[in-house]
Amino acid sequence: MSTTLITGGTVVSATGRGDADVLIDGERIVAVLAPGSELLGTDVAASVDTVIDATGKYVIPGGIDAHTHMELPFGGTSASDTFETGTRAAAWGGTTSIIDFAVQRYGERVQDGLAAWHEKARGNCAIDYGFHQIVGGVDDDSLAAMRGLLDEGISSFKLFMAYPGVFYSDDAQVLKAMQVSAETGLLTMMHAENGPAIDVLAAQLAEAGKKAPYYHGIARAWQMEEEATHRAIMLANLTGAPLYTVHVSAKQAVDQIAWARDQGWNVFGETCPQYLYLSLEEQLGGFSEEWGQFEGAKWVCSTPLRSSKDGHQHHMWQALRTNDIQMVSTDHCPFCMKGQKDLGLDDFRAIPNGIGSVEHRMDLMYQGVVTGKITLERWVELTSTTPARMFGLYGRKGVIQPGADGDVVVYDPHGHTSISAATHHMNMDHSAWEGYEIDGHVDTVISRGKVVVDGGKYLGSKGDGHYLKRGLSQYLI
Ligand code: URP
Ligand code: ZN
Ligand code: ZN
Ligand code: ZN
Repeated sequence: MSTTLITGGTVVSATGRGDADVLIDGERIVAVLAPGSELLGTDVAASVDTVIDATGKYVIPGGIDAHTHMELPFGGTSASDTFETGTRAAAWGGTTSIIDFAVQRYGERVQDGLAAWHEKARGNCAIDYGFHQIVGGVDDDSLAAMRGLLDEGISSFKLFMAYPGVFYSDDAQVLKAMQVSAETGLLTMMHAENGPAIDVLAAQLAEAGKKAPYYHGIARAWQMEEEATHRAIMLANLTGAPLYTVHVSAKQAVDQIAWARDQGWNVFGETCPQYLYLSLEEQLGGFSEEWGQFEGAKWVCSTPLRSSKDGHQHHMWQALRTNDIQMVSTDHCPFCMKGQKDLGLDDFRAIPNGIGSVEHRMDLMYQGVVTGKITLERWVELTSTTPARMFGLYGRKGVIQPGADGDVVVYDPHGHTSISAATHHMNMDHSAWEGYEIDGHVDTVISRGKVVVDGGKYLGSKGDGHYLKRGLSQYLI
């Protein structure tokens, strides 16, 4: 077991910042010290195995991306990052834990879906990983199985009001699953879009010859998200289930969540970098030499990118400040253009849904600090501390304190990051963030005490990451 001292940096938490040295022994943080401290009469720096000089840099708890889909079979293909490639890319970007979604489909057993996810991830991850459980078929068997999830270290499950015929649950199924949520304390995560209505609109658009990626965003209108968010909130309130709405993009859905929170209800919301920066017109309606109008397929995801004309992005940044939205995940679900997205070349309905960003979340959110949209402390809170609390990992993850796992990132505010498919580490033939420039840089990444990224070199190996057994949410009111 080796010891590491990170010295000279500014340690940032969700509640403040201060100059301190961080001592890691083996896999754990053992001390946060006044700069240059002696410990029991010995010079700490002289007695550790490794000293990392963080002078002029931020020392933050490793990022937690609570919404990823490695190797997800979806839309006639599979998400292009494996647990190996996706978690390595995450590490490059300063994320030291992910929570991925194990999948149970209609007609399958929850236990079998979960076992399959363990099989994909075990021994392959670069960083620690946990699972949420997707329940794609709510019936007596899966409802019973949900009661056993906490013993497996899974304290949250996702339901879909969208994707009829794939993962969709009707209101009766949502109600029954939420009753189990209320009874067990498991957090209900909701994909809140009115899937059946969206499918009618999408079919009508396609029949009228409107088949370009742009129309994906037209079919999935904000009304479909607002309505489903409201319905989910009311069903949660009726049953007493705590509710976490995933990948919120419409300002009207944000307002529903804010309203529910104003009632004092256990209702939470997550957004993703794409909804803060990208738009229906610029990206989904984009055009390129190579792909023509099909360029927009790179940004086909659900919920969709919203119009830049209606102030959704501005409203979302505001909600991050006011805590109407509590955290930022990526919904990392990458597909290559060639051989995957191009399944929908002739019809947007056949484009696999998803964007890959697991590598860039910390940087993209840090840019919000640079531009004055959020504070440094809020950056840490949105990307690490709240994800840890929300999903039952806090204490071990999400904070730099004695006893916590040695998951630490040294972030250089004077560094620079240019995002490009030519340099990223995700298994994707394009980047949704091509050309984005970040006024900051992930310098060193330590995962459970091991330096995995340092000075542009990857030092980790597959299997470094362990399965995280999670407890109940520590965020509920
Ligand atoms: O487009 C998306 N979001 N793909 C991933 C699946 C989901 O709904 O989260
Ligand atoms: Zn979803
Ligand atoms: Zn997702
Ligand atoms: Zn740097």
